[in-house]
Amino acid sequence: MNVMVIFGGKSGEHEVSLMSATSILRAMNKDKYNIITVGITKEGVWKLYEGPIDEIQSGAWEKTADEGAQNAGLNTQMSLLPTEKGNGMITFGNGRIEKVDVVFPVLHGPFGEDGTIQGLFEMINIPYVGTGVLASSVAMDKAISKKLLQVDSIPQAKYDVVMFKEYKKDKMEVISRIEEKFKYPIFVKPANMGSSVGITKANTREKLKEAIELAGKYDRKIVIEETIIGKEIECSVLGNDDPIASLPAEIIPSAEFYDYNDKYFAGTSKFAIPANLPESILNEVRDMAIKVYKLLDCSGLSRVDFFVESNTNRVLLNEVNTMPGFTKISMYPKMWEATGIKYEDLIDRLIELAIE
Ligand code: DAL
Ligand code: MG
Repeated sequence: MNVMVIFGGKSGEHEVSLMSATSILRAMNKDKYNIITVGITKEGVWKLYEGPIDEIQSGAWEKTADEGAQNAGLNTQMSLLPTEKGNGMITFGNGRIEKVDVVFPVLHGPFGEDGTIQGLFEMINIPYVGTGVLASSVAMDKAISKKLLQVDSIPQAKYDVVMFKEYKKDKMEVISRIEEKFKYPIFVKPANMGSSVGITKANTREKLKEAIELAGKYDRKIVIEETIIGKEIECSVLGNDDPIASLPAEIIPSAEFYDYNDKYFAGTSKFAIPANLPESILNEVRDMAIKVYKLLDCSGLSRVDFFVESNTNRVLLNEVNTMPGFTKISMYPKMWEATGIKYEDLIDRLIELAIE
């Protein structure tokens, strides 16, 4: 079976994708899959990559791809052209024609996890791992997904949406509006982003202004959210029409919250699987994870994140990640491992679900 693994991408989570893809490529069964590897640069250039897996994470793959192609008198930059019948045959920019049975877009954030690339593969009739166009784009946009899930009475933290343009026009008006509605500390998030990129927990008015400026670098739409005092809980969901939920995990952040550095570099945050919560709350989390997954019409996989409030044990949805971090130490596969599905088997299952 020919599986095209795509990594990198134009989003602020490019580096995270390099880490996820490196782990996935190492673990994929080479007897079972003929792997075609394609990298997307930060600028959005697609390159067929035939070099070693070890050069992906550092970013060295890009140079290797170019040099390899030059030596062969080719240009690795590829255009994806479906052949006339739209039967999954792809002509790469270097003239190579391959039938691609499944695409595994190991891409996080905008232009990878938001339905755009999923739409491309729908157009050319190639099955892909993960959620479809609509659910991907809805889940990527925190403002839209919160609003939509509100209709179905999914409990969530109190939030508001601010357009960056509106803030620029009258800063004090927007700040007063936020301060009227929320108590510090206040979370400020770009609506479309992942891995906590551009997110700040603001303790003061000054910090709130800085936070909005920062979030405004990533998105024109900004989500303001109350801080829930409690535990950060995650749950992995796997499947198409009959999804299953893993044992939930509890993140014990070493920073103010589970931020980018904590997620990928510091290595100092800890986790517990299952989360230190009563059985009934663990079940509530699992049930809500599946409910939300179905409401958004996800398929393949998603990691559904929650807060469980300390005083009340109230379970509140935080967000849905349709292509969660996938390194060997990422929470999505860790939770499955604790529930009884090994990393390698999880990859096989995702590919099966894509073509089911
Ligand atoms: N957005 C990152 C990859 C995650 O949710 O794990
Ligand atoms: Mg996320």
